[in-house]
Amino acid sequence: MAAPNIIEFQGAGFTYPSGREAFSGIDLAIEKGGAFALIGSNGAGKTTLLKHINGLLYPSHGRVLFDGKEVNKKTAPGVRDRVGFVFQNPDDQLFLPTVAQDVAFGPMNHGLDRAEVEKRVKRALEVVDMEGYEGVHPGKLSGGEKKRVCIAGVLALEPEVLVFDEPTGGLDPRGTRDTIRFINKLREERGITVVIASHDVNVIPLLVERVAVLHKGRLLFDGSVRDAFGDRGLLSKASMVPPDVTRLALEMGCCPGKGLPLTMNEALRYFQKGG
Ligand SMILES: Nc1ncnc2c1ncn2[C@@H]1O[C@H](COP(=O)(O)OP(=O)(O)O)[C@@H](O)[C@H]1O
Ligand SMILES: [Mg+2]
Repeated sequence: MAAPNIIEFQGAGFTYPSGREAFSGIDLAIEKGGAFALIGSNGAGKTTLLKHINGLLYPSHGRVLFDGKEVNKKTAPGVRDRVGFVFQNPDDQLFLPTVAQDVAFGPMNHGLDRAEVEKRVKRALEVVDMEGYEGVHPGKLSGGEKKRVCIAGVLALEPEVLVFDEPTGGLDPRGTRDTIRFINKLREERGITVVIASHDVNVIPLLVERVAVLHKGRLLFDGSVRDAFGDRGLLSKASMVPPDVTRLALEMGCCPGKGLPLTMNEALRYFQKGG
């Protein structure tokens, strides 16, 4: 039986007060425990759409549901307790003088007692391999380390859903690899539902099986990552290209379908077999 939906968009649309329509007519359901990515080029509407999940914005028309209930001014605080939002830019998220204080901020605000806060900070920093950095100023960390502290900060609230806006944006290859590893670990070990928005096609197949393609605020596709990246017509309509290794395989004559490599490992296997 399919898992129940944790997030649903029903005919949802949003127009900024400036008159700019960010998206419209969006129907989308995200299952509990899954990993899902919203992909599309810059300006497609991804960030705006993510902000509707926990009521940072409310739809101008249609509805957004979390666990079956409409997200609105009344329900949003309860939703925010269950949804952790990792912003694109760590500097928008980290603002206290030490790593420990930053990670403790959410649980403290929730009125948890000191012992519980300390326990959660310790556990969250362990998950992202940042033990030993408690007293460090976040400004002194690398981009990848900052991202890990941001993840720890939302984990300390023990969310059921983690939303990542461009999780690998601005990270070097090592920061990117680490971030992918932590996201997958959280999903596997804790069953956290992961929702990602990204324009970085190379990392998508390493993180999710299901994608929705957004272009100029419209949903062009909702299905498997392999079907999306094997569909050149779709990608061209969405002003996107497939992952680098997929492009190479296609150029070398690999036909779209089940065998189409999406990751470096899949490409290696494909080419080692002689194509
Ligand atoms: N605060 C804002 N005010 C007005 N328009 C905005 C604002 N933020 C984003 N937009 C516009 O909404 C559209 C979608 O933006 P965004 O959701 O940031 O897309 P993406 O994350 O896919 O790059 C773009 O046309 C963008 O210029
Ligand atoms: Mg964005």
